[in-house]
Amino acid sequence: MQCVRLEDLDLFKRIVILTGAGISAESGLSTFRDKDGLWAKYDLAAVATPEGFRRNPGQVIDFYNMRRAIVTKARPNAAHIALAGLEERFQGEVALVTQNTDDLHEKAGSRNVLHIHGEISKAKCAECEEIWPAPIEMNLSDACPKCFRRATRPNVVWFGEIPYYLDEVAELLRRADVLVSIGTSGQVYPAAGFAAEAAGSGAETLELNLEPSAISNVFDRCVYGPATRIVPEWVDELLSA
Ligand code: APR
Repeated sequence: MQCVRLEDLDLFKRIVILTGAGISAESGLSTFRDKDGLWAKYDLAAVATPEGFRRNPGQVIDFYNMRRAIVTKARPNAAHIALAGLEERFQGEVALVTQNTDDLHEKAGSRNVLHIHGEISKAKCAECEEIWPAPIEMNLSDACPKCFRRATRPNVVWFGEIPYYLDEVAELLRRADVLVSIGTSGQVYPAAGFAAEAAGSGAETLELNLEPSAISNVFDRCVYGPATRIVPEWVDELLSA
Protein backbone atom coordinates (compact mmCIF):
# COMPACT_ATOMS: atom_id res chain seq x y z
CA MET A 1 0.00 0.00 0.00
CA GLN A 2 1.31 3.42 -0.88
CA CYS A 3 0.89 6.07 1.77
CA VAL A 4 -0.08 9.54 0.66
CA ARG A 5 0.53 12.45 2.98
CA LEU A 6 -2.46 14.72 3.48
CA GLU A 7 -0.14 17.64 2.70
CA ASP A 8 0.47 16.26 -0.80
CA LEU A 9 -3.23 16.27 -1.66
CA ASP A 10 -4.95 19.26 -3.25
CA LEU A 11 -7.45 19.09 -0.39
CA PHE A 12 -4.84 20.25 2.13
CA LYS A 13 -5.39 23.97 2.62
CA ARG A 14 -3.25 26.53 4.34
CA ILE A 15 -5.00 29.44 5.98
CA VAL A 16 -3.16 32.49 7.25
CA ILE A 17 -5.12 34.77 9.56
CA LEU A 18 -3.90 38.30 10.27
CA THR A 19 -5.47 39.93 13.31
CA GLY A 20 -5.46 43.48 14.62
CA ALA A 21 -6.84 45.45 17.54
CA GLY A 22 -10.47 45.12 16.33
CA ILE A 23 -10.60 41.43 17.31
CA SER A 24 -9.89 42.36 20.94
CA ALA A 25 -12.21 45.42 21.06
CA GLU A 26 -15.16 43.42 22.40
CA SER A 27 -12.89 42.06 25.15
CA GLY A 28 -12.61 45.64 26.40
CA LEU A 29 -9.23 46.50 24.85
CA SER A 30 -9.06 49.84 23.04
CA THR A 31 -8.16 49.91 19.38
CA PHE A 32 -5.67 52.50 18.13
CA ARG A 33 -7.35 54.48 15.36
CA ASP A 34 -11.07 54.36 16.14
CA LYS A 35 -12.45 57.72 17.31
CA ASP A 36 -12.05 56.78 20.98
CA GLY A 37 -8.87 54.79 20.24
CA LEU A 38 -5.51 54.99 22.02
CA TRP A 39 -3.95 57.36 19.48
CA ALA A 40 -6.76 59.87 20.13
CA LYS A 41 -5.78 59.97 23.81
CA TYR A 42 -2.02 59.41 23.79
CA ASP A 43 0.77 60.86 21.69
CA LEU A 44 2.01 58.04 19.47
CA ALA A 45 5.45 59.70 19.06
CA ALA A 46 5.84 59.94 22.85
CA VAL A 47 4.87 56.36 23.79
CA ALA A 48 5.44 54.23 20.69
CA THR A 49 8.79 55.25 19.21
CA PRO A 50 12.42 54.65 20.28
CA GLU A 51 12.89 58.45 20.32
CA GLY A 52 9.97 58.85 22.76
CA PHE A 53 11.53 56.20 25.01
CA ARG A 54 14.91 57.96 24.94
CA ARG A 55 13.25 61.31 25.76
CA ASN A 56 11.01 60.13 28.58
CA PRO A 57 11.42 56.44 29.45
CA GLY A 58 9.33 56.74 32.64
CA GLN A 59 6.29 57.96 30.71
CA VAL A 60 6.62 55.05 28.26
CA ILE A 61 6.98 52.45 31.04
CA ASP A 62 3.89 53.93 32.77
CA PHE A 63 1.83 53.74 29.56
CA TYR A 64 2.64 50.03 29.02
CA ASN A 65 2.18 49.25 32.74
CA MET A 66 -1.33 50.71 32.45
CA ARG A 67 -2.06 48.67 29.31
CA ARG A 68 -0.53 45.49 30.78
CA ALA A 69 -2.81 45.75 33.82
CA ILE A 70 -5.87 45.93 31.52
CA VAL A 71 -4.68 43.14 29.21
CA THR A 72 -3.94 40.84 32.17
CA LYS A 73 -7.60 41.02 33.24
CA ALA A 74 -9.10 40.73 29.73
CA ARG A 75 -10.84 37.55 28.63
CA PRO A 76 -10.92 36.17 25.08
CA ASN A 77 -14.17 36.77 23.21
CA ALA A 78 -16.18 34.62 20.78
CA ALA A 79 -13.93 35.62 17.87
CA HIS A 80 -10.70 34.47 19.58
CA ILE A 81 -12.43 31.28 20.70
CA ALA A 82 -13.74 30.54 17.19
CA LEU A 83 -10.21 30.89 15.73
CA ALA A 84 -8.79 28.54 18.36
CA GLY A 85 -11.55 26.05 17.44
CA LEU A 86 -10.63 26.42 13.76
CA GLU A 87 -6.97 25.60 14.47
CA GLU A 88 -8.09 22.54 16.42
CA ARG A 89 -10.62 21.19 13.91
CA PHE A 90 -9.49 22.30 10.45
CA GLN A 91 -7.99 19.54 8.25
CA GLY A 92 -5.13 21.72 7.12
CA GLU A 93 -2.83 24.39 8.49
CA VAL A 94 -4.04 27.45 10.35
CA ALA A 95 -1.43 30.10 11.17
CA LEU A 96 -2.26 33.21 13.16
CA VAL A 97 -0.19 36.31 12.57
CA THR A 98 -1.18 39.01 15.00
CA GLN A 99 -0.29 42.67 15.36
CA ASN A 100 -1.76 42.53 18.86
CA THR A 101 0.50 42.51 21.87
CA ASP A 102 -2.24 41.01 24.08
CA ASP A 103 -2.40 37.27 24.78
CA LEU A 104 -6.09 36.69 24.04
CA HIS A 105 -5.42 34.25 21.18
CA GLU A 106 -3.33 32.12 23.55
CA LYS A 107 -5.89 32.45 26.35
CA ALA A 108 -8.52 31.16 23.88
CA GLY A 109 -6.32 28.12 23.12
CA SER A 110 -4.59 29.05 19.84
CA ARG A 111 -1.08 27.59 19.64
CA ASN A 112 0.23 28.65 16.24
CA VAL A 113 0.54 32.42 16.87
CA LEU A 114 3.22 34.84 15.67
CA HIS A 115 3.24 38.19 17.51
CA ILE A 116 4.87 40.43 14.92
CA HIS A 117 4.56 43.52 17.16
CA GLY A 118 5.79 41.76 20.31
CA GLU A 119 4.01 40.86 23.55
CA ILE A 120 3.10 43.25 26.34
CA SER A 121 3.46 40.45 28.90
CA LYS A 122 7.20 40.34 28.22
CA ALA A 123 10.12 42.62 28.97
CA LYS A 124 13.15 43.12 26.75
CA CYS A 125 16.68 44.29 27.43
CA ALA A 126 17.44 47.31 25.25
CA GLU A 127 21.16 46.35 25.40
CA CYS A 128 21.38 42.58 24.83
CA GLU A 129 17.81 41.92 23.53
CA GLU A 130 17.12 39.20 26.11
CA ILE A 131 13.36 38.68 26.55
CA TRP A 132 11.70 37.56 29.81
CA PRO A 133 8.24 37.59 31.45
CA ALA A 134 7.42 41.15 32.54
CA PRO A 135 6.14 41.93 36.01
CA ILE A 136 2.72 43.65 35.91
CA GLU A 137 4.50 46.82 37.13
CA MET A 138 7.70 47.17 35.16
CA ASN A 139 10.34 49.56 36.56
CA LEU A 140 13.12 51.38 34.79
CA SER A 141 15.50 50.11 37.47
CA ASP A 142 14.69 46.43 36.69
CA ALA A 143 17.87 44.63 35.65
CA CYS A 144 18.17 42.26 32.68
CA PRO A 145 18.42 38.66 33.99
CA LYS A 146 21.14 37.90 31.40
CA CYS A 147 23.48 40.91 31.19
CA PHE A 148 22.33 42.56 34.47
CA ARG A 149 22.22 46.01 32.86
CA ARG A 150 19.35 48.31 33.79
CA ALA A 151 17.98 48.68 30.29
CA THR A 152 14.49 47.21 30.65
CA ARG A 153 11.81 48.09 28.12
CA PRO A 154 8.50 46.53 27.08
CA ASN A 155 8.79 43.83 24.41
CA VAL A 156 6.65 45.85 22.02
CA VAL A 157 7.69 46.83 18.50
CA TRP A 158 7.59 50.62 18.14
CA PHE A 159 7.25 52.73 15.00
CA GLY A 160 10.61 52.79 13.26
CA GLU A 161 11.53 49.28 14.54
CA ILE A 162 11.46 46.08 12.54
CA PRO A 163 8.58 43.69 13.35
CA TYR A 164 9.35 40.13 14.44
CA TYR A 165 9.00 36.95 12.33
CA LEU A 166 8.97 38.65 8.91
CA ASP A 167 10.80 35.75 7.22
CA GLU A 168 8.35 33.21 8.68
CA VAL A 169 5.40 35.37 7.62
CA ALA A 170 6.76 35.77 4.08
CA GLU A 171 6.94 31.97 3.79
CA LEU A 172 3.40 31.57 5.18
CA LEU A 173 2.07 34.14 2.69
CA ARG A 174 3.85 32.47 -0.21
CA ARG A 175 2.21 29.11 0.58
CA ALA A 176 -1.21 30.39 1.72
CA ASP A 177 -4.40 29.24 -0.02
CA VAL A 178 -6.49 31.68 1.99
CA LEU A 179 -5.55 34.95 3.74
CA VAL A 180 -8.06 36.39 6.18
CA SER A 181 -7.59 39.83 7.72
CA ILE A 182 -9.56 40.48 10.90
CA GLY A 183 -10.03 43.74 12.82
CA THR A 184 -7.21 45.79 11.36
CA SER A 185 -7.43 49.22 9.74
CA GLY A 186 -4.79 48.39 7.10
CA GLN A 187 -2.81 51.52 7.87
CA VAL A 188 0.38 50.07 9.33
CA TYR A 189 2.97 48.34 7.15
CA PRO A 190 4.31 45.74 6.64
CA ALA A 191 1.11 44.00 7.90
CA ALA A 192 -1.06 46.15 5.64
CA GLY A 193 0.78 44.63 2.67
CA PHE A 194 0.27 40.97 3.65
CA ALA A 195 -3.08 40.54 1.81
CA ALA A 196 -1.65 41.85 -1.47
CA GLU A 197 1.44 39.67 -1.00
CA ALA A 198 -0.66 36.53 -0.43
CA ALA A 199 -2.94 37.42 -3.38
CA GLY A 200 0.18 37.77 -5.54
CA SER A 201 1.03 34.15 -4.66
CA GLY A 202 -2.47 32.97 -5.58
CA ALA A 203 -4.32 33.06 -2.23
CA GLU A 204 -7.98 33.94 -1.89
CA THR A 205 -8.37 36.94 0.38
CA LEU A 206 -11.10 37.88 2.83
CA GLU A 207 -11.54 40.92 5.06
CA LEU A 208 -13.59 40.62 8.27
CA ASN A 209 -13.87 44.02 9.92
CA LEU A 210 -16.33 46.42 11.49
CA GLU A 211 -16.07 48.70 8.46
CA PRO A 212 -14.06 48.90 5.23
CA SER A 213 -10.35 49.28 5.98
CA ALA A 214 -7.87 51.47 4.11
CA ILE A 215 -7.05 48.47 1.89
CA SER A 216 -10.47 46.82 1.44
CA ASN A 217 -10.10 47.08 -2.36
CA VAL A 218 -7.35 44.42 -2.19
CA PHE A 219 -9.68 41.66 -0.94
CA ASP A 220 -11.72 39.18 -3.00
CA ARG A 221 -14.49 39.27 -0.40
CA CYS A 222 -15.33 41.52 2.57
CA VAL A 223 -17.77 40.97 5.44
CA TYR A 224 -18.52 43.81 7.86
CA GLY A 225 -19.80 43.59 11.42
CA PRO A 226 -18.53 43.01 14.97
CA ALA A 227 -15.83 40.33 15.20
CA THR A 228 -17.77 38.35 17.83
CA ARG A 229 -20.49 37.73 15.23
CA ILE A 230 -18.74 37.58 11.85
CA VAL A 231 -15.67 35.53 12.87
CA PRO A 232 -17.66 32.60 14.39
CA GLU A 233 -20.00 32.72 11.35
CA TRP A 234 -17.04 32.47 8.95
CA VAL A 235 -15.45 29.64 10.96
CA ASP A 236 -18.76 27.71 10.99
CA GLU A 237 -19.11 28.22 7.23
CA LEU A 238 -15.58 26.92 6.64
CA LEU A 239 -15.87 23.90 8.93
CA SER A 240 -19.22 22.85 7.50
CA ALA A 241 -18.11 23.22 3.84
N1 APR B 1 -15.00 43.96 15.32
C1 APR B 1 -14.27 44.01 14.18
N2 APR B 1 -13.49 45.06 13.84
C2 APR B 1 -13.44 46.09 14.69
C3 APR B 1 -14.17 46.10 15.92
C4 APR B 1 -14.98 44.98 16.22
N3 APR B 1 -15.71 44.90 17.33
N4 APR B 1 -13.92 47.29 16.54
C5 APR B 1 -13.08 47.97 15.75
N5 APR B 1 -12.80 47.26 14.64
C6 APR B 1 -11.91 47.62 13.52
C7 APR B 1 -11.89 49.09 13.20
O1 APR B 1 -12.93 49.42 12.28
C8 APR B 1 -10.51 49.26 12.58
O2 APR B 1 -10.55 49.07 11.18
O3 APR B 1 -10.60 47.30 13.91
C9 APR B 1 -9.69 48.15 13.23
C10 APR B 1 -8.67 48.64 14.27
O4 APR B 1 -7.71 49.41 13.62
P1 APR B 1 -6.46 50.06 14.41
O5 APR B 1 -6.95 50.73 15.61
O6 APR B 1 -5.70 50.86 13.43
O7 APR B 1 -5.64 48.77 14.89
P2 APR B 1 -4.59 47.90 14.07
O8 APR B 1 -4.93 47.86 12.62
O9 APR B 1 -4.43 46.62 14.80
O10 APR B 1 -3.27 48.77 14.25
C11 APR B 1 -2.06 48.29 13.73
O11 APR B 1 -0.87 50.10 14.74
O12 APR B 1 -0.38 51.57 16.47
C12 APR B 1 -0.07 50.38 15.89
O13 APR B 1 1.24 48.73 16.82
C13 APR B 1 -0.10 49.17 16.78
O14 APR B 1 -0.47 46.86 16.16
C14 APR B 1 -0.97 48.18 16.03
C15 APR B 1 -0.91 48.69 14.59
